[in-house]
Amino acid sequence: MNSNKTFLILGASSDLGLALVKKLNDQYENSVFCLHYNSSDASLKELELKDGNTARLIKADFTSDEEVGSLIKTLKDEDLIPTHIVHLPADKLHYTRLKDYDQEHLERNLKIQVYSFVQILKAFLPAMVKRKDHNKVVAVLSSVVLGKPPRSMLEYTMVKSMLHGVIRQLAADNEGKLININSVSPSMIETRLLSEIDPRIIEMAAGESPESRNATVDDVVPSICFLLSEDSNYLNGVNINISNGNVII
Ligand SMILES: NC(=O)c1ccc[n+]([C@@H]2O[C@H](COP(=O)([O-])OP(=O)(O)OC[C@H]3O[C@@H](n4cnc5c(N)ncnc54)[C@H](OP(=O)(O)O)[C@@H]3O)[C@@H](O)[C@H]2O)c1
Repeated sequence: MNSNKTFLILGASSDLGLALVKKLNDQYENSVFCLHYNSSDASLKELELKDGNTARLIKADFTSDEEVGSLIKTLKDEDLIPTHIVHLPADKLHYTRLKDYDQEHLERNLKIQVYSFVQILKAFLPAMVKRKDHNKVVAVLSSVVLGKPPRSMLEYTMVKSMLHGVIRQLAADNEGKLININSVSPSMIETRLLSEIDPRIIEMAAGESPESRNATVDDVVPSICFLLSEDSNYLNGVNINISNGNVII
């Protein structure tokens, strides 16, 4: 059993985040789970941690620089310098064609997904690197960054591509320093993220996928756990394609 880790799960309240925390709770003991949320901590409060694991719930709206700063300050003040960071937050998915392009909306999504992450890494990555102990950073991207993106995903593809750039650059800048900075890129997962798009589009995506189904959170969590584990100590700058072969590059 792995023990004494400090996880910082950004967007822990997401459907994917909740499934991840449940799995990590089975795999680790005596570890601290710093669980970030934006709108509601109800589902996080229901988690039953075991084997000496404890949770610290932290609210922050990442569209606000002040709230990102106050999350960083809280963690520093409480000496909760993470050994493992997972980045999951995202705004609801909307299909965007060029004619729908809305710079304000893009900026909002960039704040939630990219700028917040860079600020948080700026605050904690140096200490994580200094430990020389294979601390881990994992970001959740999307299969839109692999191969040919699906149609009408302009904003989402822009944001996830930028996040991919952050992972690739920081992995390169920290090579050989016994830190692992990686990402996963799932295809469509049936979660709340899709609640504002036409259900027929979700059905169509399922129909066009190899097993005629979209992913579930349980298809994705094991790859994130792998990238958080010692088994990935020789991986840096990797982006795992979790699309059931829907995208092959
Ligand atoms: N679902 C898919 O098809 C799919 C496919 C590939 C990749 N992904 C990626 O997987 C990750 C998790 O997605 P999910 O599908 O599990 O999504 P989800 O259940 O909709 O969760 C979205 C998360 O983002 C947080 N969030 C939203 N607005 C925020 C804000 N202003 N400030 C801070 N946090 C904010 C939410 O916090 P609250 O709930 O507390 O508001 C929640 O934790 C995302 O990065 C998504 O892009 C999803």
